[in-house]
Amino acid sequence: MDIRIREGTPADAEVCGRICYNAFKIISEAHGFAPDFPAPEVAIDVLMRMLANPKFYSVVAEIDGQIVGSNFLDERNAIAGVGPITVDPTVQNRAIGRRLMDAVHERATQKKFAGVRLIQAGFHTRSLSLYAKLGYDVREHLACMQGNALGISIEDHAVRPATETDINNCNGLCQQVHGHHRGGELKDSIAQGSATVVERDGRITGYATVVGFFGHAVGETNKDLKALIGAAKEFAGPGFLLPTRNGELFRWCLNNGLRVTQPMTLMSKGLYNEPAGAFLPSILF
Ligand SMILES: CC(C)(COP(=O)(O)OP(=O)(O)OC[C@H]1O[C@@H](n2cnc3c(N)ncnc32)[C@H](O)[C@@H]1OP(=O)(O)O)[C@@H](O)C(=O)NCCC(=O)NCCS
Repeated sequence: MDIRIREGTPADAEVCGRICYNAFKIISEAHGFAPDFPAPEVAIDVLMRMLANPKFYSVVAEIDGQIVGSNFLDERNAIAGVGPITVDPTVQNRAIGRRLMDAVHERATQKKFAGVRLIQAGFHTRSLSLYAKLGYDVREHLACMQGNALGISIEDHAVRPATETDINNCNGLCQQVHGHHRGGELKDSIAQGSATVVERDGRITGYATVVGFFGHAVGETNKDLKALIGAAKEFAGPGFLLPTRNGELFRWCLNNGLRVTQPMTLMSKGLYNEPAGAFLPSILF
């Protein structure tokens, strides 16, 4: 089987999006979970945006000129994010995934990223094994949380939309919690109008690019994250990702009626700083 790996282009979005939708749907439903993408069009749209964004490196795998899979490297931040990686279900488990991972790792080395991260579907034995073999370590067990908007405010923790002028303060906070900032993603989310900040005593003590699957949040304390989660009008996508080691925040979400939709795992290779504060990772990170 001759597998060819090449860079992706926006013209690949339709085929890659359909493969991505099918691959996730089949593996999720086989384990009794809802698919990550509700319809093929959603997967096509997400991949189209990544394929068209110069800050994402994309690769596709082909057999006899037919696309059979794709993978991405989010290059917006100091630590690169891997995924979504998907391989056509009819040709899985034949080393195509490994080749697609090798391709983004080569790129990360070339671009001198200190580390790479990804989030894995916790029930998927194959991806867990593949990533571990490729050198990834498990860092956090996550619960994907979904439910009705909470409409809860936390005393003295005011939440408002983030603006460009907040970027430096938010980056400082992220630096404090993760050892590096994620200003690229934050800037994009401010432009899209989804980012929020928490202010306490006139200072920014937390922010979220979006409280949802594709967003991350950091806070000095759990109260900052509660304020952001409590103020969110919805939890975009399948839900937001909560590190279950943070038992206090996890129980607060459960006690407020949120439900766990699926277990996930944060894995990393290369530089990883143990977070020094409260955080919600994004699926891309
Ligand atoms: C995950 C995915 C991208 C992997 O691609 P793939 O082409 O099927 O995988 P590969 O054949 O390259 O690699 C699988 C590896 O895991 C190993 N493996 C599979 N199941 C295993 C198990 N239960 N225990 C131990 N090892 C296992 C295989 O032996 C292989 O290892 P090798 O490379 O050393 O031979 C693909 O299966 C897929 O699209 N799945 C659905 C979508 C998905 O879950 N994407 C990942 C999101 S986190």
